[in-house]
Amino acid sequence: MTKVNDLINIMTIEEKAALCTGASPWTTTSIERLGLPELTVSDGPHGVRRVADVNDFIAASLPATCFPTASCMASTWDVDLIHTMGQALAEECIALKVDVVLGPGVNMKRTPLGGRNFEYYSEDPYLAGQIAACFITGVQSKGVGTSLKHFAVNNQEFQRLTISAEIDERTLREVYLPAFETAVKKAKPWTVMCAYNKLNGTYCSENHRLLVDILKDEWGFEGFVVSDWGAVHDRVASLKGGLDLEMPGPRERRVKAVVDAVRSGALVESVLDESVRRILNIVFKAAETSKGGSFDTAAHHALARRIATEGMVLLKNNGILPLKEHQHIAVIGRAAEEAHFQGGGSSHVNPTQVDNPFTELRKLAANTELTYVEGYPAGTAFDQVLINRAVEAAHTADVALLFIALPGFIESEGYDRADLDLTPQQVALIKAVTATQPSSVVILNNGAPVVMNEWIDGTAAVLEAWMMGQAGGGAIADVLYGKVNPSGRLAETFPLRLVDTPTHINFPGGNGEVRYGEGIFIGYRYYDAKEIPTQFPFGYGMSYTTFTYKNPKVSAATFRDVDGLTVSVDVTNTGKVAGKEVVQVYVHDQESGLVRPPKELKAFAKVELQPGETKTVALALDFRAFAYYHPAYKQWITEDGEFDILIGVSSADIRYTQTVTLKSTLELPCLLNRESTLRDWMEDPRGKRVLGPLFQQMTAQMQAAFGGGEGEGVGMDTMGFLMQMPLLGVLHFQERAQLMSPEDLVDGFLAQVSQGN
Ligand code: BGC
Repeated sequence: MTKVNDLINIMTIEEKAALCTGASPWTTTSIERLGLPELTVSDGPHGVRRVADVNDFIAASLPATCFPTASCMASTWDVDLIHTMGQALAEECIALKVDVVLGPGVNMKRTPLGGRNFEYYSEDPYLAGQIAACFITGVQSKGVGTSLKHFAVNNQEFQRLTISAEIDERTLREVYLPAFETAVKKAKPWTVMCAYNKLNGTYCSENHRLLVDILKDEWGFEGFVVSDWGAVHDRVASLKGGLDLEMPGPRERRVKAVVDAVRSGALVESVLDESVRRILNIVFKAAETSKGGSFDTAAHHALARRIATEGMVLLKNNGILPLKEHQHIAVIGRAAEEAHFQGGGSSHVNPTQVDNPFTELRKLAANTELTYVEGYPAGTAFDQVLINRAVEAAHTADVALLFIALPGFIESEGYDRADLDLTPQQVALIKAVTATQPSSVVILNNGAPVVMNEWIDGTAAVLEAWMMGQAGGGAIADVLYGKVNPSGRLAETFPLRLVDTPTHINFPGGNGEVRYGEGIFIGYRYYDAKEIPTQFPFGYGMSYTTFTYKNPKVSAATFRDVDGLTVSVDVTNTGKVAGKEVVQVYVHDQESGLVRPPKELKAFAKVELQPGETKTVALALDFRAFAYYHPAYKQWITEDGEFDILIGVSSADIRYTQTVTLKSTLELPCLLNRESTLRDWMEDPRGKRVLGPLFQQMTAQMQAAFGGGEGEGVGMDTMGFLMQMPLLGVLHFQERAQLMSPEDLVDGFLAQVSQGN
């Protein structure tokens, strides 16, 4: 990169500072004297929102394909398909003269109430990381950049610009960082966008530990960090913290502040140079892809339809689906005539065309009589007359299709949902229609779970069609008529009730902070641990065919953590139509030093099978599949012992369990210190070696004094009591008997332990 270094040598401080601040809402600063072009960025993440005039903030954008939003993308569990979608997005960026698309968003769905959940993938960090990585490689394979966002722990909209996410180190490492980590390490995004919020009291935009120590140094991120739009508070502090580019621009005062700071010595110029270097690298990389031309709108529309069909999740089906010909169908609900296919906020795309579900149904239902009634008004108003008309139409039909979309404004960037309910009118409508017509199918359009327990029992089938993108109308018709066999699986749990959700008493926080009190127990990790029933579990979804699993194998019964394992199973399509199955592998640690979730997803694969066909699915599990982050060691660790490898069709439906034995290759430092309990000492092999003789002596004394450990005077298991006390405390009780002070004694033992190391 001598070109970049040469440039840095001749750039003035003013030019460097200007380069690190946007020139407009969507472009970086160009420097004519140096022949340095600008870089154009656009939202993201499920379509290109290219504002025609880069000086406009939220003006209408140029037409682009609106693909299904992230909830639907993740529900495909299809990494190749998402890679293809990334390529299509890149083609649109090229045509629309965009260098970097602002996505993907990989924040965890901590609560189903999160306003932007439709823009995010999953409650599971492994799944979110895999989907994000293939999205990024797809886009970047065409010479267009991505911006992995929002780094980090940006899981709610309430006070999103200021709130401090208060989170412990282990939860951060195991739940909220891994999707970013996987995407950065596997797919090398050109840019990462820092989040608005604070992380444990420090703005992410100034968070040196997050942006430099973890992202750049530990994970080896080589691109530049861009601020979320308006996330910078103190420009000099943010540069020191590792934030390279501030957006949006122009921001004259910020540029001046940086120049002044370098001149006064408050900011070392090499820090500015490092950000300049990172930005220049990407500017030149982007310039290698020439922009302009057009994209294939029809092909991308067809791709959007395919992704939508693959991501829709068939939640319930008593056999009514796929629909048959020659039926009289009542099509109820305004979402049949007015597709609800995306959410509110910066991700809002101006679609190239929109498929209307009713029209698309009509195309596939040539021999069918279709009657449309509105069912519910726009928004949240209540109108009994519409319900009465719907009941009438349903009564005289063979089948009722209820198209139920959450009102558009409910799911948006900027605010969270207040509840998980459909509107009162929609609930009343479903209840009334299903009461008169048992052959009723509910088709849902929403970006995140809704509760169903009030009405689901009356339905014959339920299809979760998500925010399905501009071609979703056709995709619904494909699935309802069985042109495509549904194969989506939930990437998030559907709870029975809002009060059951993991964050219920820790969301949305207040007084400037939100405590992640549920810790590592996000999503199914929580429902599993608490044995709380759900409406539909993580990983769940139905098909029009059936699959059986046979012949599960692991590559070794005993293995070293660094070697990992391969798990395989034969999957057969035992039904009458072709279909796709998602094989899911979860890992359960039988015994661990720190508490772990009952199971965690560690591998998955989607396979297509013709009727009668069998395929062997082999999945690799690496070191990280078995490790957990230990805050005291400050690293991912493995422990010797038994692990269950669970092969399932959802997190709640495990078909096979294989038990294996892991041998850890880690040589971990001894954690014993003056506060360690007697139990800690005896559980640590090094501690046990040193303390063993004294321990035996103490046990014998106890036996003599209290006979078998039952302290008569205080009614307790004296030995059990002592085991929980720090060794130092135990020795204090016996101080008169010792020649040395308890502190000196313990320090002596500790010295012996470390000599033995
Ligand atoms: C959003 C980002 C988005 C940016 C630019 C911000 O408000 O949080 O996701 O990329 O605006 O529109």
